[in-house]
Amino acid sequence: MPYKLLFVCLGNICRSPAAENIMNHLIQQAGLSDRVICDSAGTSSYHIGSPPDRRMTAAINQIGIAMQGRARQFTPTDFETFDLILAMDRDNFANVCYLDPAGRFKHKVRLMCDFCTHHSLKEVPDPYYGGTEGFNQVIALLMDACTGLLAFVQQELATCR
Ligand code: 4NP
Repeated sequence: MPYKLLFVCLGNICRSPAAENIMNHLIQQAGLSDRVICDSAGTSSYHIGSPPDRRMTAAINQIGIAMQGRARQFTPTDFETFDLILAMDRDNFANVCYLDPAGRFKHKVRLMCDFCTHHSLKEVPDPYYGGTEGFNQVIALLMDACTGLLAFVQQELATCR
């Protein structure tokens, strides 16, 4: 069974699709495409069915990574499907946990920035209402976090299966 990662933000058009596509890139580079699966979702229903934001896509393309996917909303069945759920900020974290009132899946939900080793920010800032710099900051943070996350997943694959 592949290890399954779900990245979660508010709209599923900026931060979480960027995380998903960056992570897929790193997974491919590491030769782990058949062992790790990535998906992303939003806590809101605002953008269901939409492609990623064109400003986020442009920034991701600039670092040589393609952007794929359509927005969907997080659903409680995701708790069963995925091994690890990565929330971009504390609001996303709280909104995901709200759908697990008994705390059965608490161990699966983490803040994305917990996996950063170079940046000290604890949340991936919402870039939606800002300028280009916000999107580039999201990418720098996600590169750091995804690198740390890859190391964590490699450990999980080595020890737990
Ligand atoms: P995301 O960014 O959560 O990173 O996808 C946002 C996208 C849309 C909105 C807010 C944040 N919105 O309010 O529509």
